[in-house]
Amino acid sequence: MTITLPAAETTVATPHLDPRHIRDDFPILASSVDANGRPLTFLDSAASSQKPEVVLAAMDDYYRTANANIHRGVYRLSEEATGRYERARQTVAAFIGAPRARECIFVRNTTEAINLVAMTWGRRNIGPDDLIVLTVMEHHANLVPWQVLAEERGAWLAFVRMTRDGRLDLDHLDGLLAEGPKLVAFSQVSNALGTIHPAAEITHRAKAAGATVLIDAAQSVPHLPVDVAALGCDFLAFSGHKMLGPMGSGVLWGQSDLLESMPPFMTGGSMIRTVELTGTTWADVPAKFEAGTPAVADAVGLGVACDYLSAIGMDAVRAHEWALVELAIDRLSAMPGVTLLGPLRPDVQAGVLSFTVDGVHPHDVAAILDEHNVAVRAGHHCCQPLMRELGLVATTRASFSVYNDESDIDRLVEALERVRVVFA
Ligand SMILES: Cc1ncc(COP(=O)(O)O)c(C=O)c1O
Repeated sequence: MTITLPAAETTVATPHLDPRHIRDDFPILASSVDANGRPLTFLDSAASSQKPEVVLAAMDDYYRTANANIHRGVYRLSEEATGRYERARQTVAAFIGAPRARECIFVRNTTEAINLVAMTWGRRNIGPDDLIVLTVMEHHANLVPWQVLAEERGAWLAFVRMTRDGRLDLDHLDGLLAEGPKLVAFSQVSNALGTIHPAAEITHRAKAAGATVLIDAAQSVPHLPVDVAALGCDFLAFSGHKMLGPMGSGVLWGQSDLLESMPPFMTGGSMIRTVELTGTTWADVPAKFEAGTPAVADAVGLGVACDYLSAIGMDAVRAHEWALVELAIDRLSAMPGVTLLGPLRPDVQAGVLSFTVDGVHPHDVAAILDEHNVAVRAGHHCCQPLMRELGLVATTRASFSVYNDESDIDRLVEALERVRVVFA
């Protein structure tokens, strides 16, 4: 059987992912049993995922057997550390279909990746009266850096509208593209509503209009097959900690010629070719953008996280989360007083489900769920403009990953029943 995903522009094979087996790979899920013996139901992977044993072991092994500063040492340990760091870069590049490993810059997270582009490519290419097109659904990480840049450069921002069910209005996009924007920057998957936007189509239209395109892939790379060549974008930013990798690991991928033409982001050691007292020339990409000593163990851990996801298969990850979100939509939509937000269509929705409970603040919902060892997120999800579009200040959000299964949705529903009893 094959499931076709028109909006995600991918084809998904039959799920073959066994969450009972996968759950055993995540030590924290076994250790976080509450006082009543209830296992942890972790439904906040969109904020940060848990880490499998292999990632923890790879980082531990790095520190125990290979730790040294990289690139500059001419001794065995430094060469070993350099090798592991650069192999991680190759693994990450292969994971997102990047033609060349050196196009992947290691950063701390998506936020840093987007700031890097804004402060380097942006400062060089955005000028007075230039237009930057974003969407009303962006995470603050893909909004605030462009606000700062626009203010600094005298450029202006415009925002693609959304439909009531949390999808982007592509006719409105076309209208904005007709104004000739310099940059179009959008998230491939909404962290607040889970909407999977047609990223290749948006990119195609934006490129046809002459724009440079940045995709915030913080919520897509962990959950869908992502291929930069197929997307056709110029920049892609994502975080390791949302995709089973370590905190403080992230990646900016960029087209080689753009990266070559950009000035450095931070300056100092490791990113130079020659330094005189009064001037400096830059190292080649990617070193030009990796000033100072990098987080080597975190990069190594991220490489192993990519291997782990590849071993499962990203098609299987997507199919698994499709089934979970479909079930969650079914179960929660049958609960009186619970209002679900977003497309409510697994074909265009990743493993994220936002909802409100009548008369109960989302923080109170989350606090009661926590009493049942169910971890969800409540708040504006760093999307205050999107919340305003919805006429809300906050939602409760359940988000899924490879280690979740149907029993997690059972526990979510049971705990939500308690919310209704407590607030009845
Ligand atoms: C869509 C999206 N973009 C950007 C970010 C920022 O990620 P980070 O905090 O890792 O920089 C997030 C985090 O939730 C996100 O969901």
